[in-house]
Amino acid sequence: MKLTVVGGGSTYTPELADGFARLRDTLPVDELVLADPAADRLELVGGLARRIFARQGHPGRIVTTSDLDAAVDGADAVLLQLRVGGQAAREQDETWPLSCGCVGQETTGAGGLAKALRTVPVVLDIAERVRRASPGAWIIDFTNPVGIVTRALLGAGHKAVGLCNVAIGLQRKFAALLDVAPADVHLDHVGLNHLTWETAVRLHGPDGEDVLPRLLGDHGDAVAADLRLPRALLDRLGVVPSYYLRYYYAHDEVVRELRGKPSRAAEVAAMERELLGLYADPALDTKPELLARRGGAWYSEAAVDLAAALLSGAGSPHQVVNTYNRGTLPFLPDDAVIEVPAALRAGAAPAPLPVAPVDPLHAGLMASVTAYEHLALEAALHGGRDRVFRALLAHPLIGQYAYADTLTDQLIAHNREHLAWA
Ligand code: G6P
Ligand code: MN
Repeated sequence: MKLTVVGGGSTYTPELADGFARLRDTLPVDELVLADPAADRLELVGGLARRIFARQGHPGRIVTTSDLDAAVDGADAVLLQLRVGGQAAREQDETWPLSCGCVGQETTGAGGLAKALRTVPVVLDIAERVRRASPGAWIIDFTNPVGIVTRALLGAGHKAVGLCNVAIGLQRKFAALLDVAPADVHLDHVGLNHLTWETAVRLHGPDGEDVLPRLLGDHGDAVAADLRLPRALLDRLGVVPSYYLRYYYAHDEVVRELRGKPSRAAEVAAMERELLGLYADPALDTKPELLARRGGAWYSEAAVDLAAALLSGAGSPHQVVNTYNRGTLPFLPDDAVIEVPAALRAGAAPAPLPVAPVDPLHAGLMASVTAYEHLALEAALHGGRDRVFRALLAHPLIGQYAYADTLTDQLIAHNREHLAWA
């Protein structure tokens, strides 16, 4: 099996190599190709990935290359984990929206739109090359904003599935709190990427007993502390929102916090410098502890499980993925991309499991963010100031024309070099 990682020079990649090594029985990778235009970084990351494979006795070979077409040629699956413009562009996304009192975040609000506009054309170009070189390959998209990027890929007819680690992170967290095996915890996870709620926590299968009330009763404080939301709010909601909902439910509080501290991009850039220094040590053959301070916990498990299910059927039969709605949430259009548990069969597109009726409290937000995502994709595909403005005006965290106008100008000014039409 040949698996290609686009953005393989990411400092996250040792996490993937560790996952592929540990889980090689589920996903037997013969060739892991790390593709990245940043040659220096790629050599450091690739070197550590090879040592991780060697230490764990993985027989597969790891190839590093900056030649994308060669990298994807003959691949069975291609993982996309790239970041157009790097942490420097992210820093901008996290900063200029604050001037309007709007959240500055890499996937939510105006910053997320900027990221979508930079990213969609690049990802579509890569996907075309994948289709040309390996028409049967699956594209697994980790590249943010995952909902919009996946919608772009599916809209262009690609064999793509979007993936995020929020669901697997909560599954592991809840399993630890309940003292059960992670595989025994099945989440009723519903929403859009980075806009999800856990409406039930079931044991032993997707139809198992719902222990969410018990979980909140016994461990509500721990869950709330992780989300940085008040325990009393969780009790009133009766469901567990993802931590991205804090940008909505505590928007102004978050803006005040963000204004008073360095950006997450700056923190991550500092961590990345330190990580690359560690990766350069030829004696290091495990993923370093420091990597745990990044947001990507468990993403290798999620990737292995999904790739195995899509390619051979060896992965879990039900997994949380980003895919077309097609009637699953009746209040959203069929071509909305939603994030829900889906049944997986080798070679087949994920089939979302039926979802219980959604509380209007959550459905309303999902519907307005879906409309934003539709308009965001229009802007990413066709460009133009007016399309950017429409997407921002539609976003529930922006909504006022004066802010939308100012943020449109800022978005364009800060991203001109990445926008072909600007
Ligand atoms: C979580 C999200 C990812 C996001 C990451 C950011 O894992 O699900 O989509 O990329 O956090 O983590 P970072 O360490 O870059 O802030
Ligand atoms: Mn994510």
